[in-house]
Amino acid sequence: MTAAASKARARVAELIEEIRHADHRYYVLDDPEISDAEYDRLFRELQALEAQHPELRRPDSPTQRVGARPLDEFQKHTHRVPMLSLANALTEEEFSEFDVRVHRFLDTDPARKLEYHAELKFDGLSMSLVYERGMLVAASTRGNGTVGEEVTQNVKTIRSVPLKLHGKGLPDIVEIRGEAMLPIKDFERLNEQQLKKGGKVFANPRNAAAGSIRQLDPGITASRPLILYAYGLGAAEGVKVERFSELDEQLEEWGFKVSPLRRVCKGAGEVLEFYEEIQAKRDSLPIEIDGVVVKLNRFAEVAAAGYVSRSPRGMVAFKYPPRQETTTIEDITVQVGRTGALTPVAHVAPVNLGGATIRRATLHNQDEIDRKDIRIGDRVVIQRAGDVIPEVVKVLTDLRTGKEKKYRLPDKCPVCGHPVEKPEGEAVARCTGMACPAQIEGRLTHFVGKHALDMDGIGFKIIEALVASGKVKGFADLYRLTQKDFLELEGFAEVSSKNAVDAIQATRKPELSRLIHGLGIRHVGSATAKVLARHYGDLESLAAASEESLMEADDVGPEVASAISEYFHDKQALKEMRDLLKYVEPVAPARPVQGGRLEGKTFVLTGTLPTLGRNDATDLIQRHGGKVTGSVSKKTDFVVAGEAAGSKLQKAQDLGVKVIDQDGLLELIKD
Ligand code: IVH
Repeated sequence: MTAAASKARARVAELIEEIRHADHRYYVLDDPEISDAEYDRLFRELQALEAQHPELRRPDSPTQRVGARPLDEFQKHTHRVPMLSLANALTEEEFSEFDVRVHRFLDTDPARKLEYHAELKFDGLSMSLVYERGMLVAASTRGNGTVGEEVTQNVKTIRSVPLKLHGKGLPDIVEIRGEAMLPIKDFERLNEQQLKKGGKVFANPRNAAAGSIRQLDPGITASRPLILYAYGLGAAEGVKVERFSELDEQLEEWGFKVSPLRRVCKGAGEVLEFYEEIQAKRDSLPIEIDGVVVKLNRFAEVAAAGYVSRSPRGMVAFKYPPRQETTTIEDITVQVGRTGALTPVAHVAPVNLGGATIRRATLHNQDEIDRKDIRIGDRVVIQRAGDVIPEVVKVLTDLRTGKEKKYRLPDKCPVCGHPVEKPEGEAVARCTGMACPAQIEGRLTHFVGKHALDMDGIGFKIIEALVASGKVKGFADLYRLTQKDFLELEGFAEVSSKNAVDAIQATRKPELSRLIHGLGIRHVGSATAKVLARHYGDLESLAAASEESLMEADDVGPEVASAISEYFHDKQALKEMRDLLKYVEPVAPARPVQGGRLEGKTFVLTGTLPTLGRNDATDLIQRHGGKVTGSVSKKTDFVVAGEAAGSKLQKAQDLGVKVIDQDGLLELIKD
């Protein structure tokens, strides 16, 4: 091999490892270490090297995750060890019966507390992944438990699935069992996109995950941000674990995503506590679950308890109440949002969904109503996923009596009476009234909200009253309010009106990013607002920025840039902003100090710092004139290493770059 070729080989190995590590931090640990730009640079360098030296293309290269050709059909895959199913326990009582049964089959003292492993029951698509000598060679769906469909190319696009197991002493053959899922937020985003382009809308995250995995074109799967949680084993030759709790650790070590929401429980009582704790968290989880899975922790005990039909007796799915229910649509009304969007809302006969009483469900827009043929009086199935607004899944048309009434959105805004417009090709109808109170209320409620100006104690109810009284039309009006204004509203007395004025006045020096977010520009959420604040430093410069300039800010794409530019080209919006700036003085993020102590020095951060977050550490370095980059080279002056530092620390040591910890960094900037 020539010197150049061996150098290329070494570099390819290094890049694969760096990207693997970055993927693991980002997709498995949810704790990214390098910027997107840096990641792209590494990825492109690897692609270029592989193009130049095709012989260096390795099956575990991250470039092999994408780009496979569409298939004509799926091949069948026979599982080495069948994928079984679980018996259900639907109530506390049924769970307690399970515990009694397990004692009986283990022939053990009923008073003995059995050791259970409790974890989430993921509501996704179960998968089996085969690794031979550590390399992912096949992935398939469960199918009938014995034979499934081979979807290897698709599963390779899931970034939380390791292409090669990490660590030493890898087993000859192992089947990893886990669940492919689409997080709820991504499910909603996908449905929004599908609605926009008139594509198929999925009923729930599980169907969306299944639809995404069962795609003949891996390119489509790659565009869906699927994740995979690992929880079990099929065939396992040379795997030395004896308990589920140990297996979880082994899976984590190999590089899989394993939910941290798991516990070894002594006896049924502790399992019940876990079940209740998770139920309280269910709405705030990023993924859909439908219960907890309880397993005897020791594999040997599971085997000893035996099997009934195709379920192990030593495991059970302890389910939560369903979040789909049948009810009747009693009426349909319209809500007008802050952008003027009209949303039809179904008022339904109250039903309990997963513990909450539901009276309303969103119907999204007219196209949705037409597509599902939803009528007033219909019996419908409604559902709720996560903490999102319930929606109608389908109409039970067989139960129609003929008295159901079709619905059409009004062509005049029900709040201000102005015409409603629905641009060609868009699903959303909007009110065209500039002074529509519903829009004003929506904009102001967003402006005073927690993630924007955060006016303590001021919420929708107060805003509604202020708008109705005619006292407030725009943001600046809030700052002109006096105690007398509040006293004129219903429900305000001496103290409460003073508190309200104080709460508003206390926000006259907001962080610039909060102010930008508060304006309610389409597509500009908290994160983008932060980027813009840092990039432009003040509101006037942001307002004056061209679309091209906007796209130079990190993570601002054409859609966002165009929305911002459109916002500031609106005379009314500009006037409102200038009026507002008479009262508030936004505080810009700290700018780099000229002649700071770290001037001319380049830093790389790696691992978790004890108290400074990544953003704070970056801020600190930049404020003192230093630069933070993503990868270590000879030009790096310092690597700041925290806990679980990865390959960058190694590289720093190899290159002889100075490594410091958080204290070392603080020391450098001490006066
Ligand atoms: S263990 C004997 N653990 O539930 C089967 N399954 O009804 C052992 N599931 O097909 C499966 N979360 O798709 C296990 N933490 C978890 C799970 C889980 C979801 C699914 C799995 C299986 C179904 C069984």
